[in-house]
Amino acid sequence: MLVENKEIVEVSKRIFNIDEIRADFPLLHRTVNGKSLVYLDNAATTQKPNSVIEAIKNYYTFENANIHRGLYFLSELATESFENARLRIKEFINALSVSEIIFVRGATEAINLVATSMYRGGLLNDGDEVILSEMEHHANIVPWQIVAKNNNIKIKVIPIDDDGELILDNLSDFFTEKTKLVSIVHISNTLGTINPVKEIIKTAHDNGVPVLIDGSQAVPHTKVDVQDLDCDFYVFSGHKMFGPTGIGVLYGKTEFLKIMPPYQGGGDMIRTVSFEGTTFNDLPNKFEAGTPNIVGGIGLGAAINYIDSFDNSEIVLHEKGLLDYATERLLEIDGLKIIGTAKMKTPVISFTIDGIHPYDIGTIIDTDGIALRTGHHCTQPIMKRYNLPATSRASFAFYNTKEEIDKLHDGLIKVKRMFS
Ligand SMILES: Cc1ncc(COP(=O)(O)O)c(C=O)c1O
Repeated sequence: MLVENKEIVEVSKRIFNIDEIRADFPLLHRTVNGKSLVYLDNAATTQKPNSVIEAIKNYYTFENANIHRGLYFLSELATESFENARLRIKEFINALSVSEIIFVRGATEAINLVATSMYRGGLLNDGDEVILSEMEHHANIVPWQIVAKNNNIKIKVIPIDDDGELILDNLSDFFTEKTKLVSIVHISNTLGTINPVKEIIKTAHDNGVPVLIDGSQAVPHTKVDVQDLDCDFYVFSGHKMFGPTGIGVLYGKTEFLKIMPPYQGGGDMIRTVSFEGTTFNDLPNKFEAGTPNIVGGIGLGAAINYIDSFDNSEIVLHEKGLLDYATERLLEIDGLKIIGTAKMKTPVISFTIDGIHPYDIGTIIDTDGIALRTGHHCTQPIMKRYNLPATSRASFAFYNTKEEIDKLHDGLIKVKRMFS
């Protein structure tokens, strides 16, 4: 049962009130090491609002049954909730049809699916080329290397400049008749850079090459319209946009999904099975083998309802205020250097402090209840580009406040004093 179109009811948007927003997120009110939690690792995963927690609880309390199979009441109810979530995702990214929305475990699985199925389907062959960039998350490097290693596919890498912007002046030179895909991150999880993906897609299409966009860090911050971008694939994870872990989305244009063979085999993706051979189900089920993460899909639908209850421009404005304020306050600290100073950024600040290892920063500041990420952020090529072993990273969501940035500033001053 696919829900293709339901009447879209326009709901008036909530007023952007930070105290009310924070009240929606129970975890933000806990203490850590006796201090109020300051959660600044939102690029890794976001906290969940009550409405998402309630949707999960409601499903297990009142609706739990396997989907697409039973003709009984509960199974139909669970199927409807799951398929309604698919419809919400379709609307959220403005896909043409729900059959273009494939539920996966997350962005990583989505990219592995595309790499594997493109190869198996003959859209990528030995000797072909894929274009990536130097700022990709490992999830958008390793799947291509696995395909490349087994099958001799060449990976070309668009470099980044000192500010953390892609060097695109000679982009057209990257394309040859062997190029089969550009796979590129929309927003960098380490640098915060917002890439000009629409222009990149246009150039790729001018060269007859399809484009996959890794939107993991884009969907929690910006409005994404896959038809306007004209991307061929768009992938993201639910847990980075206030939804549950273990659920994510692969959007693909029907023309590609139709000719790509299934990624995994099992229940739900078949039409008929016999020992002589198997025929496959229609889209999107063709790519959804086995019992899916039903509650994850429903939770992701609830997360989208939550995000959509606000006017996106208010989220963008608040987050811009956080980025500007955090940049200003952190630069007051002697010896602190920000890695990633692109003109177009989301609120992600990677930084180093002279003479102090990022791991020490992360460990010490945790004693003040401040959750900062330290390490390579699954982007080792970026670390190599800047000749760094690691950075500390503060990444903000729209529930963060300037008071929390002050606490981060004061915590870092304390760390510095310990090392002076
Ligand atoms: C830009 C980017 N791409 C891909 C991923 C992988 O996401 P997941 O681990 O949810 O599959 C991440 C996670 O940090 C990311 O930031």
